[in-house]
Amino acid sequence: MLTNKNIVIGVTGGVAVYKVLDVISRLKKLSANINVIMTKSAVKFVQPLSFQSLSQNYVVTDMFDEPKTWDVEHISLAQKADLFVIAPATANIIGKVANGIADDMLSTTVMATKAPVLIAPAMNTNMYVNPIVQRNIKILKGFGYNFIDPASGRLACGDYGIGKLASPEDIVEEIIKVFEEPLKKSLRNKKVLITAGPTQEAIDPIRYITNHSSGKMGYSLAAAARDRGADVTLVSGPTNIEKPRGVEVIDVITAKDMYEAVLKHFDESHIIIKAAAVADYKPKEISKDKIKKGDTDLNIELSRNPDILLELGRMKKDKILVGFAAETKDLIENAKSKINRKNLDFIIANNISQSGAGFKEETNIVSIIDSLGNIEKYDKMKKEEVSNIILDKVQDLIKLKE
Ligand code: PMT
Repeated sequence: MLTNKNIVIGVTGGVAVYKVLDVISRLKKLSANINVIMTKSAVKFVQPLSFQSLSQNYVVTDMFDEPKTWDVEHISLAQKADLFVIAPATANIIGKVANGIADDMLSTTVMATKAPVLIAPAMNTNMYVNPIVQRNIKILKGFGYNFIDPASGRLACGDYGIGKLASPEDIVEEIIKVFEEPLKKSLRNKKVLITAGPTQEAIDPIRYITNHSSGKMGYSLAAAARDRGADVTLVSGPTNIEKPRGVEVIDVITAKDMYEAVLKHFDESHIIIKAAAVADYKPKEISKDKIKKGDTDLNIELSRNPDILLELGRMKKDKILVGFAAETKDLIENAKSKINRKNLDFIIANNISQSGAGFKEETNIVSIIDSLGNIEKYDKMKKEEVSNIILDKVQDLIKLKE
């Protein structure tokens, strides 16, 4: 869910430091990439090694450490961050950032970032309600910094009141919201046409030619595009899965039906993604009656179906056109030739003979190849995650074209 998201977590000194280990472990399970910066006081509560083991990244503790990369670390982390979190945030770090003081690795990096910042304060109740701290929080909110309010209860110092670090569940929920909120609007005003599932080509009234497509990949794309605010039309071959709510679904049977439905909606669409497994061939003649079993072999003559994507590529203009390539060998070479031949912006290649990839699976293993030949290979992931990666790429292209 947070695949490829770079989250930098600043940890300041407080008894709640240990809870942030739980936050990191939850974020790692959501596939986020985590970098941790600890202040000198944070290190007194928990060793950096614990954070390093969980984040699987070197933990930065001091500006004057031997650099681990040739980048200036506070700048490179500030630029790398998609989100900056400070948890637990003491009155000290809140005061420093609110007043422009940058005197250690954490305060310097947070000042240098353009990423959204989420601050989870934790401190004694009297400190938290102190008007100076409240003024500093107000200043930061005014500059667009986001806060996760502390919880109330028994504090480590023995007092009761507000000031406990929010629970790891709540912190992770807020982090997810930061990424989801802008996503909800990111494809607003865009019409997206998606195809999914197999097609069926009748041989006689009883039998047909088809393939193993379940529709899961295309349906998941349709739901993900809907969640980003797009107006989605899904042209679907016969499937047994639930139709995504809030999406216009057009049911089709044959490749010819799919061709007609897609062409009908092509002009109005800004983005077209063809995840369907379209039958390339159909029986030349459909027998009106059931073909009776005989004593000899039966030959069925097949004729070519239209290649819908090829046709769309010819009419593409400034639309974004995305295809899939289902292969069993020479994945990259075959997919590359399809990009050129079908005039695509990019193609998602899946080797359907790999376990966990392709037909019927909940997951997929894909490589995305763009029209310049750049290749990005991904590990096995849920089809929902693949869908979001595809839509992120579509949005990057929209930005480039604007
Ligand atoms: O539905 P699932 O069970 O979730 O499985 C997902 C999937 C394996 C079907 C999906 O990930 C996938 O790979 N879809 C494309 C399958 C396919 O037909 O690949 P292809 O390499 O034969 O075709 C290349 C592209 O041309 C595809 O975008 C296809 O939709 C399109 N095409 C192909 C033939 C044709 N006659 N018309 C087309 O438009």
